[in-house]
Amino acid sequence: MVSKLTAYFAGLAGALGFLTAAAVPHLETQGTASRLIVNGQPLMILGGELGNSSASSAAYMAPHWPRLHQMHLNTVLAPVSWELIEPAQGRFDWSSVDSLLEAARANQLKLVVLWFGAWKNSMSTYVPAWVKRDQARFPRAQLPNGQGLDILSAFATATRDADKKAFCALLAHLAKVDGHNETVVMLQVENEIGMLPVARDYGGAANAAFHESVPEELLRGLASPARFAGTAVGKSWEAHGRKTSGDWTEVFGESDATAEVFTAWYYARFVESLVEAGKSVYPIPMYANVALNRPLKAPGEYPSGGPLPHLLDVWKLGAPALDFLAPDIYFSNFSDLASRYKRSDNPLFIPEANHADKSEAPANAFYAFGKLDAIGFGPFSIESVDTAQPNPLVAAYQVLQQLSPAILAAQGRGTMTGFRPRVLEDGTVIATPVTESIGGYQFTVSFVDTQAPQAGQNVASHGGIIIQVGPEDYLIAGQGFIVTFAPVGDGPPLAGIDSAWEGSFNTAGAWVPGRLLNGDQTHQGRHVRLAPGEYQIQRVRLYRYR
Ligand code: DGJ
Repeated sequence: MVSKLTAYFAGLAGALGFLTAAAVPHLETQGTASRLIVNGQPLMILGGELGNSSASSAAYMAPHWPRLHQMHLNTVLAPVSWELIEPAQGRFDWSSVDSLLEAARANQLKLVVLWFGAWKNSMSTYVPAWVKRDQARFPRAQLPNGQGLDILSAFATATRDADKKAFCALLAHLAKVDGHNETVVMLQVENEIGMLPVARDYGGAANAAFHESVPEELLRGLASPARFAGTAVGKSWEAHGRKTSGDWTEVFGESDATAEVFTAWYYARFVESLVEAGKSVYPIPMYANVALNRPLKAPGEYPSGGPLPHLLDVWKLGAPALDFLAPDIYFSNFSDLASRYKRSDNPLFIPEANHADKSEAPANAFYAFGKLDAIGFGPFSIESVDTAQPNPLVAAYQVLQQLSPAILAAQGRGTMTGFRPRVLEDGTVIATPVTESIGGYQFTVSFVDTQAPQAGQNVASHGGIIIQVGPEDYLIAGQGFIVTFAPVGDGPPLAGIDSAWEGSFNTAGAWVPGRLLNGDQTHQGRHVRLAPGEYQIQRVRLYRYR
């Protein structure tokens, strides 16, 4: 239900007349994938997130914008903070937003706006001073001993309504000044929500809610066989008697895990309230991001109750208006973690794909787009990349930018794969070759380059993508791997290379061949090789023989 509070903004935006869901950035299904549509075209976000404070100063950012464009980014993830847009209650100052829009447009970049509202990394440091200083109206979350935290309580209606009002004002402003342009393509709601250093808020309102009945929607979800099956939340509900009523302890037992489910539910409901109202003003895609948890840590040691892998179904039920939940991945086990956020009800977007200087970022990007049909990828602190030196992320983005029409065409259709060695949470690299079939051929990708000295190979950074573009034609791109081939199905049992060209796509999207690779470059027809450290594209035609 849209409150009166937001009806004003909805009316204002609606009066602009062009804000139908099809005419603003939105998600569209293609096969098993979701694609982001902007200005009527699919957009694959080659992104990067700005450091937290950078966007608060247009002067600070000025030299960085052109560099971000030159780095082959098409989208920048930039914070908009509540304290800057509403310095006094009800008085909005759009200068920080307008300068972002102007700079992005001047440098042919799109924006994902990160709403730093009530919470940023659990804490409430981006709220305006009039909120921070009014603890009576905007109560803090509390520890069990009653001490207040620098975290606003999610159980205060005044806090939710004030945040929602600012959020809707931002959306109305974007609808007005950007609705025709679509510079802003998505919106992140809050940043890495989660309770610290305990599993839940112990303030008066939170304690009262904890002793109330578990909400009907969640109970119904628990009883539906499609949801929660095999999850920790589902198992704890089963272990406590599959109850259809009762308070949180009765339904889930007395534990920090229960406190975390409770926290997740009420954070999700808070976010849902913003998203539902915000979408009635300007219905662009919206998501919530998450700080992932290290195994064996207790909720509260990590931000409790965010849209974590074990809480995805709680968030899906609690915040159904969100388009998706997005992992910030700073751990080594990128492929395992990213895979958990690729579901039929959740397209993958990685707003923070570790720090931008990490050598494995490019391999992660190829994997996310090629294997998991990602909407986008964004390493953090992107403006800190030193572009005076050759940089692997920039080289990889240059290749991905050229490939983006082919990738977008292949997403969700089973004609593409991405690969990188699996890396475990402790950093162990599993360099075992991977085998996948696409069209009529099976590809075996080996990550250790046998044609180059093995000492010094950074195997964790190796990876790439294969895209089928014709019956026997494939684009193979990336660096640090060797591919061998076999036919799939009936017919002649052997596969060979008809031709392998290196090359690139020009700005019009036409293939411009370079050398025809043969002889030593294909090991006399035995394999295709993309040498370590050299991001490139090869166009390969295969054939069968006996
Ligand atoms: C994750 C947060 O979401 C970012 O805003 C930033 O604080 C990074 N951590 C720093 O590594």
